[in-house]
Amino acid sequence: MQLIYAPASPFARKVRVVAIETGQASEIELIDATGISPVNPTEIVTRLNPLARIPALLNEEGQLVIDSRVICEYLDSRHVGHRLIPDADSKQRWQSLTLAGVAEGILDTAVPLRYETALRPEELRWTQLIDSQFNRINHTLDYLEPNAAALGEDVCIGRIGLACALGYLDFRFEEFTWRTTRPGITAWYRDFSNRESMMQTVPY
Ligand code: BEZ
Repeated sequence: MQLIYAPASPFARKVRVVAIETGQASEIELIDATGISPVNPTEIVTRLNPLARIPALLNEEGQLVIDSRVICEYLDSRHVGHRLIPDADSKQRWQSLTLAGVAEGILDTAVPLRYETALRPEELRWTQLIDSQFNRINHTLDYLEPNAAALGEDVCIGRIGLACALGYLDFRFEEFTWRTTRPGITAWYRDFSNRESMMQTVPY
């Protein structure tokens, strides 16, 4: 299989963490599309994915699998070990998928925010939008904080998503000091970040 990714992409990181956690990393050839952005779709990504987005997976049959959530589910369906997406009859399923949705929402806010603050010419930046997006991320982290103790150590798609989202905030928004008022998520993230899969995929 081939995975088009960029080391900076939190969506691709999620997929790589899932690949490592499910023992499939050695079956995946990584193709680095560093430099991709909404204004620089890059030739390799555009050729493979009409949406010009990463991650994109080409499976062993040469079929394209796109959208990080779909690729994660695809990989999870291909192994026999502990399911990262709990089965339909599991009590944890909706909790895990909801956390995955929350994490996805943080990233759907943070990545455009990065483009808004780093890529868009300064004179065209819209501070009201920037503030509103940071508020949205803050509210979401506040919502998670009281339940941080319940996040636990077990690895699942929701926790992987949250860890990749927090990792992206640290990577791209150093000045965004999300830890100050959130000791619970801070401690959880510190422990989760020690997983081999997280350490092997630190963004750069
Ligand atoms: C980034 O550089 O922040 C980035 C790169 C690819 C996808 C998403 C984010």
